[in-house]
Amino acid sequence: MKKAGQRPDNITVTAPATIANLGAGFDLLGLAMEAPCDTITASRLSVQKLEFVSDPAFPELPLDTRNVAFYVAKKVYDAISPDTGAEIRLIKKIPPGSGMGGSAASAAAAAVAINTLFGSPFSREELLPFVVQGERLASGSPHADNAAPALLGGLCLLSPGKQMEVLRLPVSERFYWTVVLPACECNTREMRNLLPKMLSLATHTMQAGCLATLVSGLITGQSEWVSRGLHDLIAEPVRAIHIPGFAQVREAALDCGALGCSISGSGPAMFAVADTANTAGTIADAMQQAFREAGLASNAHISPVNTKGTLCTEQSLS
Ligand code: HSE
Repeated sequence: MKKAGQRPDNITVTAPATIANLGAGFDLLGLAMEAPCDTITASRLSVQKLEFVSDPAFPELPLDTRNVAFYVAKKVYDAISPDTGAEIRLIKKIPPGSGMGGSAASAAAAAVAINTLFGSPFSREELLPFVVQGERLASGSPHADNAAPALLGGLCLLSPGKQMEVLRLPVSERFYWTVVLPACECNTREMRNLLPKMLSLATHTMQAGCLATLVSGLITGQSEWVSRGLHDLIAEPVRAIHIPGFAQVREAALDCGALGCSISGSGPAMFAVADTANTAGTIADAMQQAFREAGLASNAHISPVNTKGTLCTEQSLS
């Protein structure tokens, strides 16, 4: 934490949807999309307190510190301990329970908004543990594979060690990512309860090989390596049955030229990666059609990797 710098009076911050796991990288790998984004607007209050206004479009979200945005904002605010207060307002575009990193995006936007409002004493990297505390609140697990790319952008690999360390990998920007969200929800906490507690040596070796191959392909832009590496032997086998039409949706994506297709985070959103924007569009149509045949409407998002992460889009001094 450094000395506080310039302190705006009002600020608007956006944080993007993210694809966690990317197939082979369970709890280790995540990538930021351009859209959708959650937004926090924050304004300074003369009294020393934090006020939170949730998005009325999501009446099911808690209005107190059980809401991850407010919870993380309060943690950052208490750590800075400023002599004035703030009101923060959440605008949610990433639906809760979608597998698109909605809780991480709300928390990252809230953390950056409070930090910036009070002179940016924390670096982006120093804000990550606060955002991960929000993930623990939301799902019972302090995984950072949505939080890191939401905050920092790009392709993030969690590095083993005592401290939470993120390697922001030099990702190729030539791939296009399609995320299709069907009209159903998966609760991350419940999806984590399904995970195997033990893995066989053969599964470990195969998954480690896939992760290394996938990461090499994403860094170098080699489609063939992405295609060979994008498989998940750990989470996908136990979670896929909770996504109606999963096998057909994946088959539709691969038939249209996807290099790989799997579950985004803990689902139900599914993602696919493609060589061109045109192919990504064709893949999105085919995945949506397959979900329709399984009885589900869906929304599709296509974007290249977002290398910026959480962004301050407006700030003003009064
Ligand atoms: N890695 C986490 C999981 C992401 O798969 O449970 C949750 O969005």
